Amino acid sequence: MHSAVSVITTKRDGGELGDDQIDWVVDAFTRGEVADYQMSALAMAILCRGMNRREIARWTRAMIESGRRMDFTDLPRPTVDKHSTGGVGDKITLPLAPLVAACGAAVPQLSGRGLGHTGGTLDKLESIPGWKADVSVPRMREMLADPAIGAVICAAGADLAPADKRLYALRDVTGTVESIPLIASSIMSKKIAEGTAALVLDVKVGAGAFMKDIDDARELARTMVELGTDAGVRTVALLTGMDTPLGRTAGNALEVAESVEVLAGGGPADVVELTVALAGEMLAQVGIHDVDPAAALADGRAMDHWRAMIAAQGGDPDAPLPRAKHVEVVKAEQSGTLTRLDAMGVGLAAWRLGAGRAKQGDPVQFGAGVEMHAKPGDSVTAGQPLLTLHTNTPEAIPAALEALRGAYVIGAESGVVAPVVLERIAL
Ligand code: URA
Repeated sequence: MHSAVSVITTKRDGGELGDDQIDWVVDAFTRGEVADYQMSALAMAILCRGMNRREIARWTRAMIESGRRMDFTDLPRPTVDKHSTGGVGDKITLPLAPLVAACGAAVPQLSGRGLGHTGGTLDKLESIPGWKADVSVPRMREMLADPAIGAVICAAGADLAPADKRLYALRDVTGTVESIPLIASSIMSKKIAEGTAALVLDVKVGAGAFMKDIDDARELARTMVELGTDAGVRTVALLTGMDTPLGRTAGNALEVAESVEVLAGGGPADVVELTVALAGEMLAQVGIHDVDPAAALADGRAMDHWRAMIAAQGGDPDAPLPRAKHVEVVKAEQSGTLTRLDAMGVGLAAWRLGAGRAKQGDPVQFGAGVEMHAKPGDSVTAGQPLLTLHTNTPEAIPAALEALRGAYVIGAESGVVAPVVLERIAL
């Protein structure tokens, strides 16, 4: 006979949780028999004591079994997805999903909304007039099977790993997010339940990421690759830099506009490089080796899939995107080289300008955010625009400027530009 207290004290005292204890506690929590305060205490014990590979795998399985597991194995094309652990200006999913679809795979991407300083893919796409995040499973299947679409980015249904949904909300308010076993099992339970055959993980490292340190990022990546592989999902991870934002925009509609530039064959070099690198990994995972994703991006094939994918979810790909009512330009105080542009500072500024939300369910401002006119390594001249802040709530501008204080440095040296892809982790 199990009890929440015995499970909590086993872990509190540094013991290993048995399979039956894990199955019981996750199931009882899902049914409301284990209270939120008990699950919060267990999450804290796990954060302090850790879990071994067997425990993490069992925990992940229990999370998956708390809801429905989707199955796309009958589709005519192989399925592959990507997950990013979250960063500032990380709009990569937007060009990537249609690009990989254009190259012959199907991309079932269940995404989330942003919380805190990192944006959410659904918030970005919802800035496109008419676009809807909710897609039924039969409609998802139709979109994935349609050779002109081949990708769907939508909200996860309430029945996908519901135990994780509840646990994540508790972790967020009990200081228990930063546990590698809990992060890995949270992400992987949703990705495995989503029914993708293969998965590429983009694990962000640096000032604007969950993982500030490369050793922690390696451990998180390896744990997730092991979980995916053990569950029969071909999984590989790239560690990618998040000291500075990706691209030149952070904010919902601003990032959609930048993604469309990338799909039109232009856009910032770092966004293009990471999109093509992740597409190459995704295609390799499903055995597609004869299509060059860089060519499919440059020649408009990915754009065709983007337009079809947006229209299939009610969006108008030609409609003007929302713009904020107020802008404030931050100018360079001196000439030199921009040597630092801190992802956390820019992410916080965008959030305070209205691009993000303070708590779940708050609305976001689609036009709000930060546009970056220079990136580390660029030369700047005194007086030139460095950043443009966009918002409908001008009273937020002083708080955004405060977040940006010390977030950028103009120096004399030429500066070393950090690589986008740092490492690849596979079993
Ligand atoms: N994203 C998730 O889905 N879960 C975590 O625990 C952290 C990030």
